[in-house]
Amino acid sequence: MELYEAIEKRHSVRSFKPDELSREVLERLVRAASLAPSAMNEQPWHFYVTTGETRAQVGEVMSQTTTHLEEYVDLIGPERHAEAVRWYSELGNAPVVIVCAMPKADDPFGRLNKQLSVGTAIQNLLLAATAEGLGACSITFAFWVRDEMAGLLGIPDDDEIVTIIALGYPGDEAPAAPPHKADVATFLD
Ligand SMILES: Cc1cc2nc3c(=O)[nH]c(=O)nc-3n(C[C@H](O)[C@H](O)[C@H](O)COP(=O)(O)O)c2cc1C
Repeated sequence: MELYEAIEKRHSVRSFKPDELSREVLERLVRAASLAPSAMNEQPWHFYVTTGETRAQVGEVMSQTTTHLEEYVDLIGPERHAEAVRWYSELGNAPVVIVCAMPKADDPFGRLNKQLSVGTAIQNLLLAATAEGLGACSITFAFWVRDEMAGLLGIPDDDEIVTIIALGYPGDEAPAAPPHKADVATFLD
């Protein structure tokens, strides 16, 4: 798939087929992520690719985030509360969840550089997933259970979880595909 086509096609997918992904596909996605630029070439990312029993355990931890949804009712709207509970409890039955971590940083500049770098790697992964015919959704809502999830996966104390990515072949439910603003640049001569 041509790059611009993948960029146009990519949308957050929140419903997945149960089909497993091959190890080769998963390794291609991680490779794409690892080729991203990073501040001072620090490459501050680590990807915990969970499938099978570990994926199920990640789901159990993630479902605890639903206790925090009340804080977001104003943002998501009360009518979407039940849908959000289902989404965070099931993650669309994604067969794979990738947990993205980076080294902790006390200084704001170091933290900014790390977070941006991990963000670029994630976008590489999301675009590669699109090119593979896969669907994905990056979910920072895992923030609320980051310590429990880090404990489950044995993530070192010096590292922190940035986001998790639900991944799989898209289900029949079409992605929400919200519109993206066009007026986002100021061109200055
Ligand atoms: C940094 C970041 C955090 C996000 N966190 C969540 C999340 O916690 N839950 C969720 O359902 N989607 C999450 N998303 C997906 C966004 O909701 C989605 O990208 C946005 O609505 C635009 O839709 P699109 O990806 O289909 O273009 C996140 C995306 C980004 C880039």
